[in-house]
Amino acid sequence: MNVLVTRAIPEPGITLLKQTCTTVDVSPHDRVLSSDELLAMSRGRDGLLTMVTDPVNAQLLDACPTIRAISNFGVGTNNIDIPECTRRRIGVANTPGVLTDATAETTWALIFAAARGVIEGEIAVRTAQWPGWGPPQYLGMGITGKTLGIIGAGRIGQRVAEMSRGFNMRILYHSRTVRRDFERSTGARFTDLPTLLRTADIISIHTPLTARTRHLIGASQLAMLKPTAILINTSRGPVIDEAALVESLREKRIFAAGLDVYEYEPELTTGLRDLLNVVLLPHIGSATVETRTKMALMSAEHLISMLQGRRPACPVNPELW
Ligand code: DGY
Repeated sequence: MNVLVTRAIPEPGITLLKQTCTTVDVSPHDRVLSSDELLAMSRGRDGLLTMVTDPVNAQLLDACPTIRAISNFGVGTNNIDIPECTRRRIGVANTPGVLTDATAETTWALIFAAARGVIEGEIAVRTAQWPGWGPPQYLGMGITGKTLGIIGAGRIGQRVAEMSRGFNMRILYHSRTVRRDFERSTGARFTDLPTLLRTADIISIHTPLTARTRHLIGASQLAMLKPTAILINTSRGPVIDEAALVESLREKRIFAAGLDVYEYEPELTTGLRDLLNVVLLPHIGSATVETRTKMALMSAEHLISMLQGRRPACPVNPELW
């Protein structure tokens, strides 16, 4: 078994691969590979352990006909052309579950930071721009007792809602599926998207990126938000029309936003980084030592299973087994 790991991952994952595979090559570059580099390094492989930043498309698969399995180091698989893989009987797996808490925690970090102007205040103190305490300074929005709107009630969306328990919040959600257990355990109420956008004080996006969710939040949806609303995105950047969001934040039509992901990642839409009413994180949703180690082990296990002809624990195209 000859596999490529497209970027260094925590060592336990590599060790596991080396115990089973004849050849395990890890990209020597500590950066996203270009399409050409990815293609050149993937030739002749049986399996790939890919990052969520690696586009795996028909062009790559055409050039690398020996590939039988692709294990994505992450839960989102929008970087992989799944129908194309399925058509070629290439197994695809991902790493759901192990990153739920970490991503939900990052979401709350963004909620707090955006609601209370944490970054703006920190910059002022650090750059000696803070003149000392004063009643009208850095006034934020409270969180306790407010309405939390969850868009996409999968594992992460549900966990974010559960974590609100200590803040006595009302929870609204909009999702493809009505989740009765979630409603029972959190008191969450299903609503249509416009109602959620018009009603919620804090809106947090947790939907996968698909053709249906691309620009789910555009100018007309942003116009529905309250002027006091806070918009958080830890899912995928293109779910929000970033140019429309910049406009909305610049015109102060909403209170603040918190982003971990970007439409043209790692590029930012012009104007976004000049705004102080947005908190900008570098896609660190799952970035804890524990979580990334679990993701490494899990993605290595999945790759080995698929290459040995077994169904991985987390198949993305389960119809192949
Ligand atoms: C994922 O798992 O999809 C994250 O975005 C990567 O940490």
